[in-house]
Amino acid sequence: MPSSIRTLAGLEIAALAEKHGTPFFLYDRAVIEQRVSELKAFDVIRYAQKASSNIALLSLMRKRGVVVDAVSAGEIERALRAGYRPEGTVAPGVPDIVFTADLFDADAVEAIRTHRVPVNVGSPDMITQLGKFFPGAPVTLRLNPGFGHGHSRKTNTGGEWSKHGIWHTQLEECLRLGLEAGVKIHGLHMHIGSGTDFEHLAQVCGAMVRAAKTVGPQLEVISAGGGLPIPYKKNQGRIDTAAYYALWDSARKEIEAAVGHAVRLEVEPGRYLVAESCALVTQIRSIKKVDGNLFYLVDAGFDTLVRPAMYGSYHEISICAAGGRTLGAEQDVVVAGPLCESGDVFTQEEGGVVVTRKLPEAQVGDYLILHDAGAYGAAMSSNYNTRKLATELLVSNGKAEVIRERQTYDHILQFERIPEDLKGN
Ligand code: LLP
Repeated sequence: MPSSIRTLAGLEIAALAEKHGTPFFLYDRAVIEQRVSELKAFDVIRYAQKASSNIALLSLMRKRGVVVDAVSAGEIERALRAGYRPEGTVAPGVPDIVFTADLFDADAVEAIRTHRVPVNVGSPDMITQLGKFFPGAPVTLRLNPGFGHGHSRKTNTGGEWSKHGIWHTQLEECLRLGLEAGVKIHGLHMHIGSGTDFEHLAQVCGAMVRAAKTVGPQLEVISAGGGLPIPYKKNQGRIDTAAYYALWDSARKEIEAAVGHAVRLEVEPGRYLVAESCALVTQIRSIKKVDGNLFYLVDAGFDTLVRPAMYGSYHEISICAAGGRTLGAEQDVVVAGPLCESGDVFTQEEGGVVVTRKLPEAQVGDYLILHDAGAYGAAMSSNYNTRKLATELLVSNGKAEVIRERQTYDHILQFERIPEDLKGN
């Protein structure tokens, strides 16, 4: 990504900023459609909507034949509002929505019971509980095979320190629990962290084959989980999706031979489908020197994009000059946000180490763009410092449409109440 740009998804950044204000997330529909097409070899693409769950994006996924994963009652609600139906409308015999979690909270029990949503259980307790409120429920078991992988310690989802999934040695016990509870355990799922590499993946596939043989003929579906990486840095290569599929497909074939019938192969990406489709556009509001360091201060912080502050994640950064002038030579810059917190820095590494980035010499009023912000960007935004959630725009056929309006203070404050005796003077 060049450090100086004028357009995103074919549209003038300055014109968009003047019309919609900053900060905003801009998604390019064509990129999402391209990523979906790259995974079409899988029988089912199940979008892990936690990555970005705007109902416009979910509707786009549905139109492109992608079903969804939901990790909360709220995500079930989003899926329903985007037109998904639990019984399956997108592909024959495939549930539109699957609920994945390590526990049921009260809202989830209500939503699953009401809408009959199949469940991917992450704890043995869930099997017994599910049998009570949804007898006969179709169930897949999310297994922790005993090892894991992730782009940071916080995104590693396997091994003995992970809270996710059913420990692999408890598989037989869970099959027994399923029989006792009267639910239909028909599938296995493994999501082993975000940022999978192939050597590791082969290990995961091996663990899946072993587990599938234990389940036997009742097995109908396996899910490879998500975790397909994207090149956040310019020098990182793209994942070979065909090789990724080939590994899983050969595991599936081995499983089919063992269980004696066809087995559906699902993949459950979040990041891969949306990360690269979206940029976060901010405006530089102050440029200051702190001793020898130069800071560009922009109007979005970790309230809007938390990944750098939370994981030390890297996002490419570009500048767009506001008035069409040519930008100056590159210099070392720290990029930080408006929050009243020293960790509110976009150029930082894991552990909170602040670093600089080479960026063109800019002026107050120029736009600063954080790329690849489509996954875990808007979805992880907060109202910290009582700042409004940013506008989200979707570009389709050269036209940007608002898919989430900027929040208002009334939205933010609507559920707060002042006790009577504290009102007035
Ligand atoms: N399936 C399950 C069960 C998951 O827990 C996740 C992610 C996914 C699929 C999708 O993973 P993906 O394909 O997006 O890597 N907030 C972090 C990532 C947390 C991932 C949590 N689970 C980040 O910003 O990198």
